[in-house]
Amino acid sequence: MTRVYFNDVVTRDGFQIEPNFIPTDDKVRLIDELSQCGFAKIEVTSFTSPKAIPMLRDAEEVMGRIQRIPGVEYTVLVPNLRGAERAFESKADEFNLVMSTSETHNLANLRMTREKSFAGLAEVIKYVAGRTPINVSLSTCFGCPMEGDVPQKVVEEFAKRFADLGVRGLTICDTTGMANPAQVTQISEALQKQFPNLQLTMHFHNTRGMGLANVLAAVQSGITRFDGSLGGLGGCPYAPGASGNISSEDAIHMLDAMGYDTGMNMPRLLAIARELPTIVGHAVPGQVAKAGRTCDLHQAPDYVKDLRQQ
Ligand code: COA
Ligand code: ZN
Repeated sequence: MTRVYFNDVVTRDGFQIEPNFIPTDDKVRLIDELSQCGFAKIEVTSFTSPKAIPMLRDAEEVMGRIQRIPGVEYTVLVPNLRGAERAFESKADEFNLVMSTSETHNLANLRMTREKSFAGLAEVIKYVAGRTPINVSLSTCFGCPMEGDVPQKVVEEFAKRFADLGVRGLTICDTTGMANPAQVTQISEALQKQFPNLQLTMHFHNTRGMGLANVLAAVQSGITRFDGSLGGLGGCPYAPGASGNISSEDAIHMLDAMGYDTGMNMPRLLAIARELPTIVGHAVPGQVAKAGRTCDLHQAPDYVKDLRQQ
């Protein structure tokens, strides 16, 4: 049975784009509940500028108050050196650095060129000096909503430059749901071949309904690590048209049904997913929390029993 590992990003990717600030108490409670479900990783928050991402301005407090469970890694998004200093103080288990493979999206999101971002992140990696594992999330790897195609070669080049700096992992992000399964297969195979020692994670958004098809393509190409977001919330505030990540529970339910070992407690996860609309104050896209698992059966109507006996 192939083991697959999930990282839930709802309190980072999900909450960063919510119209209303989610109270700190709710964030802490939600993370503590997610910690009990079997996730390999939880992306708790981001140490970005509170002016750029006001919804996550309580990052220190959230990191300080959550209960950490052995076996779960608590990762945080780090955009620059200042973010890395804050992440150290919060004792994050992993720093998730971020830059875009599209020049336009990098300028929109991080307000600098890709080369400036790369140089800044190289400085962060030098500063961390192996004290905390580093993952790099590369945004818009399957296309940019402003620029269009991002050649696979560009993704491979940035991947190589970060691999050469000694990072532990890379997350290949489809920031606005532009990836298709054929493209996912191609990039998954190429990156695994080139970087057999890196932890490779796929981060899909379901903006155009291709999210689970892309998970399937990736897992069948040998990828075993995925980001997902409870309820399917999420999106980058600086990427036009961004919408939710793949829903963690829908992706995990699919892989469970196919016989993958997800290590997850599904009933517990679904119970939390069902609380999410109350926390955020609106309906969420995730489907399995509404429909129930394929094994959650309904009672047949009485007339079926009568018909059977005829
Ligand atoms: N933590 C807290 N504050 C930070 C910070 C950090 N990591 N980085 C910068 N700041 C503050 C600076 O102190 C400065 O504050 P001031 O105006 O009170 O002096 C302000 O932010 C601007 O700093 P500057 O260095 O000029 O940064 P910038 O305006 O070029 O912004 C980023 C750069 C990356 C920090 C900012 O664009 C950002 O946080 N973007 C968010 C990216 C993101 O998370 N997107 C969604 C996920 S992909
Ligand atoms: Zn995302």
